[in-house]
Amino acid sequence: MLNPHFLICSLLLSFQALTYITAIDSDFVHQIDRNLLGLNKKKEKLSHFKFYWHDILSGQNPTSVRVISPPLNLNTTTFFGFVNMIDNPLTMGPELSSKLVGRAQGFYASASQSEFGFLMAQNFAFIEGKYNGSTITIMGRNPALNKVREMPVIGGSGLFRFARGYAEASTHWLDYKTGDATVEYNVYVFHY
Ligand SMILES: *[C@@H]1O[C@H](CO)[C@@H](O)[C@H](O)[C@H]1NC(C)=O
Ligand SMILES: *[C@@H]1O[C@H](CO)[C@@H](O)[C@H](O)[C@H]1NC(C)=O
Repeated sequence: MLNPHFLICSLLLSFQALTYITAIDSDFVHQIDRNLLGLNKKKEKLSHFKFYWHDILSGQNPTSVRVISPPLNLNTTTFFGFVNMIDNPLTMGPELSSKLVGRAQGFYASASQSEFGFLMAQNFAFIEGKYNGSTITIMGRNPALNKVREMPVIGGSGLFRFARGYAEASTHWLDYKTGDATVEYNVYVFHY
């Protein structure tokens, strides 16, 4: 038969273990008031950014370089497996000579065997005005031959802390010979 004394003892012990675990947990993570981050004073707003992304593969100063080539034995028409590292200029207007507002840093990679479908992993690092030093992070799928491609904004830094939203990319200009391209980006982002 179960000894009632033993039962109470083990109940007390497990309660102690529970509070001990909770104490460890609370050193690791705390619920905090949003006022502590000044979020009570700031209203979440929705911003629309429009700029042009220049993928420059040709010439003496490319901003987009092939760092991994597709495996030769795969023989796909989509260059499945290649990776390009980018530090692409972002400008206000479609001309490369127009005002520089930031750079797109990251990589894109062919992730589809049946169409031109790229994995885009890039940070938009802005230098313009109050956005100087703030970044928006994009991670998404880019079926590059489609007229408009949508990619999620998965976060950001600086003025874009807690950011969420999406970007729409549409090709403005493409040189089929060199692969150089100018892409219009419209980014819709909630941020504080
Ligand atoms: C690649 O595939 C195509 C058909 O999909 C074929 O015509 C061609 O010979 C292949 N090339 C090689 C190197 O295997
Ligand atoms: C952006 O900030 C950096 C570092 O604070 C500064 O050196 C640079 O001049 C700023 N750029 C612009 C365009 O304001």
